[in-house]
Amino acid sequence: MKRIGIYTSGGDTPGMNACIRAIVRTAIVGGLEVVGIEYGYAGMIAGRFIPMNMRSVSNIIQRGGTILKSSRCEEFRTPQGRAQAAANVRAAGMDGLIGIGGNGTSTAAHALWVEQRVPIVVCASTIDNDLYGSDFTIGFDTAVNTALEAIDRLRDTAASHDRTFFVEVMGRNNGYIALFAGLGGGAEEIIIPEVPHDVDAMCERLKDARARGKTSSIVVCAEHEQAGNVFKLAETVRRRTGLDTRVTVLGHIQRGGRPSARDRVLASSIGAAAVQALLQGETDKLVGVVAGEARLTPLEENVTRKKPINIKLVELAAALAK
Ligand code: F6P
Repeated sequence: MKRIGIYTSGGDTPGMNACIRAIVRTAIVGGLEVVGIEYGYAGMIAGRFIPMNMRSVSNIIQRGGTILKSSRCEEFRTPQGRAQAAANVRAAGMDGLIGIGGNGTSTAAHALWVEQRVPIVVCASTIDNDLYGSDFTIGFDTAVNTALEAIDRLRDTAASHDRTFFVEVMGRNNGYIALFAGLGGGAEEIIIPEVPHDVDAMCERLKDARARGKTSSIVVCAEHEQAGNVFKLAETVRRRTGLDTRVTVLGHIQRGGRPSARDRVLASSIGAAAVQALLQGETDKLVGVVAGEARLTPLEENVTRKKPINIKLVELAAALAK
C-alpha cells in the first residue's frame, strides 16, 4: 500500500478534524501518501481529490466541522455511482480508503468493498452514538455537552418562571444524546425511541412532582417519529396538566463547536488505528473503541446490528428525578 484516500461523510461531527489530522500524520510517518477526498462520496464520484501533507492538518485539532467537507450522496446508493467512484479512486492511484462517518458511511463503504474490492475502513464518527462496534463515537461527547449547556441555561429560566421546558435533541432514531444530556442535566423526563412512551403517565408524574414541591421541570425529548411533534406534545401536556410549557429545539447547534477533550482523544486514537488497520491488510471494517481499546468490527455486522441503549442509565435517570 503506497497511497490512501481519506474522506468525511454524512453529518459532520466535532472531532472529525482531529481524526483527519491523526490519519494524515500516522499515514505519512508510516510511509504512505495521503489524498483528501472532498465532499465524501459525492467528491469520490466527481474526482475532487487534493494532496495532503503534514501541514494540511496543522491547527485543525480544535476546530469543529470538517476541512474536507461532507455530503449525503444519493448517487452513491447506485451501483453505477459506486463503480464511477472506484474507477476514480484507482485512476488516482489510491490503494485504500479511510472514511470518517456514521451508519450511512459504513453502509456505503461496505457496498464499495463488496462490489468493487476497494480496501476500506471507516472511523466511527456520529453525534448520534448509534454505531454497533464502538462504545462511543467521535462527536457524541461534544454534542452531549452542547445540549447539556443549553439545558442548564433553560433550567435557569424555567426555575424563574415555574415552567416546564421541552427540549428536543438530535439522535435520528436513537436516544443516546437525550439519555446522556437528560441524565447529566437532571431532567425530570427523558423521551427516547427505545422506551415506550405514555403521555398520560408523564402528565401524572409532572403533576406529582409539583405536589411534592418542584416548581419547574425539564423534559428532554429525542427527535424521532414515535415521539411525534414536540410542540404538539408540549401543548397536550399544557392542556392536561395546566402547567406552563415551552419548547426549545436545539437542532444543528449540536453538530458544531470545538470538540471536547474526550472527542479529540477518541478521534486521534481511532484515526491512528484506522491507518494501522489498512497497513495490516484489513478491509471492510469499522474502527471504533470498545472498553477503552481500539476495536475492528466487520462492516457487515456493524450495518446490520443495532447498538442497544444502556437501560440501566434509563432507570437511573428515572430514579433520580424525584
Ligand atoms: O446523524 C447526525 C444527525 O445530526 C442526526 O442527529 C439528525 O437526525 C440528522 O443528522 C440531520 O441531518 P441533516 O444535517 O442532513 O439535516
